[in-house]
Amino acid sequence: MGLLGSSSSCSSLVAVVLVLNVVVVCNGGKTSTFVRKVEKGIDMPLDSDVFQIPPGYNAPQQVHITQGDHVGKAVIVSWVTMDEPGSSTVDYWSENSKEKKQAQGKIVTYKFSYYTSGFIHHTTIRKLKFNTKYYYEVGIGHTTRQFWFTTPPEVGPDVPYTFGLIGDLGQSFDSNMTLTHYELNPQKGKTVLFVGDLSYADNYTNHDNVRWDTWGRFVERSVAYQPWIWTAGNHELDFEPKIGETKPFKPYTHRYHVPYKASNSTAPFWYSIKRASAYIIVLASYSAYGKYTPQYKWLEAELPKVDRTETPWLIVLMHSPWYNSYNYHYMEGETMRVMFEPWFVKYKVDVVFAGHVHAYERSERVSNIAYNVVNGICTPVKDQSAPVYITIGDGGNLEGLATNMTEPQPAYSAYREASFGHAIFDIKNRTHAYYSWHRNQDGYAVEADALWFFNRHWNPVDDSSNGQS
Ligand SMILES: *[C@@H]1O[C@H](CO)[C@@H](O)[C@H](O)[C@H]1NC(C)=O
Ligand SMILES: *[C@@H]1O[C@H](CO)[C@@H](O)[C@H](O)[C@H]1NC(C)=O
Ligand SMILES: *[C@@H]1O[C@H](CO)[C@@H](O)[C@H](O)[C@H]1NC(C)=O
Ligand SMILES: *[C@@H]1O[C@H](CO)[C@@H](O)[C@H](O)[C@H]1NC(C)=O
Ligand SMILES: *[C@@H]1O[C@H](CO)[C@@H](O)[C@H](O)[C@H]1NC(C)=O
Ligand SMILES: [Fe+2]
Repeated sequence: MGLLGSSSSCSSLVAVVLVLNVVVVCNGGKTSTFVRKVEKGIDMPLDSDVFQIPPGYNAPQQVHITQGDHVGKAVIVSWVTMDEPGSSTVDYWSENSKEKKQAQGKIVTYKFSYYTSGFIHHTTIRKLKFNTKYYYEVGIGHTTRQFWFTTPPEVGPDVPYTFGLIGDLGQSFDSNMTLTHYELNPQKGKTVLFVGDLSYADNYTNHDNVRWDTWGRFVERSVAYQPWIWTAGNHELDFEPKIGETKPFKPYTHRYHVPYKASNSTAPFWYSIKRASAYIIVLASYSAYGKYTPQYKWLEAELPKVDRTETPWLIVLMHSPWYNSYNYHYMEGETMRVMFEPWFVKYKVDVVFAGHVHAYERSERVSNIAYNVVNGICTPVKDQSAPVYITIGDGGNLEGLATNMTEPQPAYSAYREASFGHAIFDIKNRTHAYYSWHRNQDGYAVEADALWFFNRHWNPVDDSSNGQS
């Protein structure tokens, strides 16, 4: 229950108070009173256990996987070798067949200021069976390392699936806690939807790309075994003309490949995938999105393709939030909101996950699309066709928490709290998904914020926190 009551009681309160001619501001939902020690995050030192280089000549390191096609029958396997190029071959076999198959890939390298990368391998394994556990081996010819993953079930409307949500992770001691809490959450996320800002290597002198390598080794313990779906954040830009680095996203695009061509996108920063019963659209806060731009034209053509009878759950990922009531990055997402929000309402997006603000916030279902420059109608209103907006930029990087909030809490904001954590979006069937947010200070199973999502296409009844309480 919100501390300040539902917005309907709020509007009647306003009516009563207006008669009494007293000024009152219509407050939003809950601002959590959970209090923690606020301090800057501290990056784990280079000799930390989580950054250890695997032993052996040319041993593959920084192993990571992501979905490799539009439907989940392909996986992109990426890793780095340091001593020599070595082989980009991946050996793989399914759990119940000992017959080894091979996939061939390619190697890329790049330089950034004084830094020269290792040999970055990207190999796509295709024609996998759905819902199957596969083992895979990399480093063929020298030191080999073995991992495994499970492919998703075939795309379909009632396929349950559990997504984890992590954003703005970095490589601090808090980041390590967030990852540990995600791994040990008994709800067992099967795929991470990552909302941008990976390594924060750009915090170091000349964006010391060694910190991209340490980040790759740090998260390997999760991302070598389950796909992380990547979104580009501002800390992926690595744009630094002072040191001659004028090509944005250079380290990110060399290290993290995504299957953008499978959704007919022309750049790796915006793309879509289907996974189980979800249709996931990844947008780019730091690529052009004005009218006639490639991203705009792609999204305009993309949204009508989403078939809710096949994938009921329409999820959008982006880095910079549109609805954010913290005094950090306030209104940075505004120009993209103006361009795309009418489409999100028209196509009934279920939920939008963003990062960027280092805290947690969940909105009511609201839209703000009536304004036309002259009519003055520019306040967010409750809208059951609109998505819920969730800011989950609370992964725990070195910049620390965003604690300063706008006051009073706006009516669109249902819950906000400045704590590090992660979330789980657990799809049960075409009508129901259970969402929970978990803060790092709690036990692994504790839900600090939770609610049922009712699907906007199949079950579009009011699922706001007020409606449920
Ligand atoms: C990171 O977390 C893991 C798992 O909890 C732990 O084993 C490791 O010691 C931690 N490392 C650091 C540097 O905090
Ligand atoms: C991409 O475009 C091709 C050619 O127009 C089309 O056949 C295919 O269905 C499109 N794929 C997606 C995912 O939209
Ligand atoms: C690195 O992060 C700290 C903590 O937020 C900040 O004070 C500092 O300005 C950052 N340095 C660079 C070079 O970005
Ligand atoms: C919070 O942010 C507001 C707006 O930017 C600023 O005026 C205020 O000083 C900040 N408060 C603190 C405690 O930093
Ligand atoms: C969908 O899942 C919800 C929550 O688990 C359940 O209450 C409901 O009965 C399910 N619907 C169907 C048709 O199984
Ligand atoms: Fe960011």
